[in-house]
Amino acid sequence: MSDDTRFGNMLFEISIVIFFISACFGAIAVGLYVYCKFTMGKCGNSIGLSNKTILITGGNSGVGLEAVREFARRGARLILACRDVKKAREAIRDIQQQTGNIDIEVHEVDISSLASVEELVRQLTLSLKKIDVLCLHAGTGPVDSRQETSEGHEKTFATNHLGHFHLVQLLRPALNPGSRIIITTSMAHEYVRLDFENLQQHKAYNGVLCYARSKLMNVYFMRELAQRLLKDGITVNAQNPGLVHTSGLKNSSALGNWLSETLVAPVYAKTSWQGAQTLIHLATSDELDEVTGCLFRDCKPTRLNEIANDKRAPKKLWQYSEQLIRNTSRSETTP
Ligand SMILES: NC(=O)c1ccc[n+]([C@@H]2O[C@H](COP(=O)([O-])OP(=O)(O)OC[C@H]3O[C@@H](n4cnc5c(N)ncnc54)[C@H](OP(=O)(O)O)[C@@H]3O)[C@@H](O)[C@H]2O)c1
Repeated sequence: MSDDTRFGNMLFEISIVIFFISACFGAIAVGLYVYCKFTMGKCGNSIGLSNKTILITGGNSGVGLEAVREFARRGARLILACRDVKKAREAIRDIQQQTGNIDIEVHEVDISSLASVEELVRQLTLSLKKIDVLCLHAGTGPVDSRQETSEGHEKTFATNHLGHFHLVQLLRPALNPGSRIIITTSMAHEYVRLDFENLQQHKAYNGVLCYARSKLMNVYFMRELAQRLLKDGITVNAQNPGLVHTSGLKNSSALGNWLSETLVAPVYAKTSWQGAQTLIHLATSDELDEVTGCLFRDCKPTRLNEIANDKRAPKKLWQYSEQLIRNTSRSETTP
């Protein structure tokens, strides 16, 4: 066999291998796509929300904004607690035009700041008598390096957990039997455990770990709060929207961004509307009137893993958070 023929055969074999590898990747991508589209939950009810007041943090973009659009369409009175008020006002102008619901207010809050949370509640109590649904949805993704708020708290922890913890205590008087609290977590909570000696990552910082731990805190907070509010008839559940194509999916590395935009987002991620379905289901479904202390995904309750089900961690986190707030702010915590 001549060298040319051998070379030709080798090229042919390499092409076949490349073809099979590409076909395998293609099949996996199609399989994943089909699996994701078919297992995606959709809120099945069209229950109206007139006379209901919904307060949501993080309602000015992504998943939160789509939930707000649907709540407005169903006639709710809406209060958006947002950091970027200008962005929120533009978003609600659009929603008001689409839905005809003008009962939407925007209030400013930086949820990572306890002082800002207190100022928000001061403003709200002037006009707020009751909250039917409280959506604790704002959140920040992983960041590269450790940052602190002006009050000295690690920023991801303060945004994703502590601010909402404080908000619930301060809004407690507006919550009545039948009120619902919904906390947004993430599947990231499943892969970590808390280090109670280093809850704010003073030692070696890892942004992804810090984010995942803050999302585990969301689950612990949900469980402890559900217990404490059981006797008052207020339900507390958590929801994991799944992987959603929002600005929250942005990555700090160029390669990460490219991968998420070209592969993850089109194949695997949900749209914001799809990502909002579980939040809408939890806020509206009358089957859930008495369901509390559960984690939902794709509009269905889902089992907590062993770490998320830990018996003592929720109470320990509660006591730690309460102590931090006592040391930082002058407002009392109640429930
Ligand atoms: N996207 C996903 O795949 C995914 C998966 C699991 C869980 N989640 C969770 O879903 C929630 C919403 O995220 P998203 O994906 O919809 O991303 P997003 O569009 O970036 O939304 C994040 C929201 O949180 C608000 N926020 C962030 N920091 C804040 C602060 N300090 N004070 C007040 N508001 C603040 C943002 O407000 P500004 O616009 O004013 O910054 C924005 O409204 C987060 O809790 C996130 O952890 C998302």
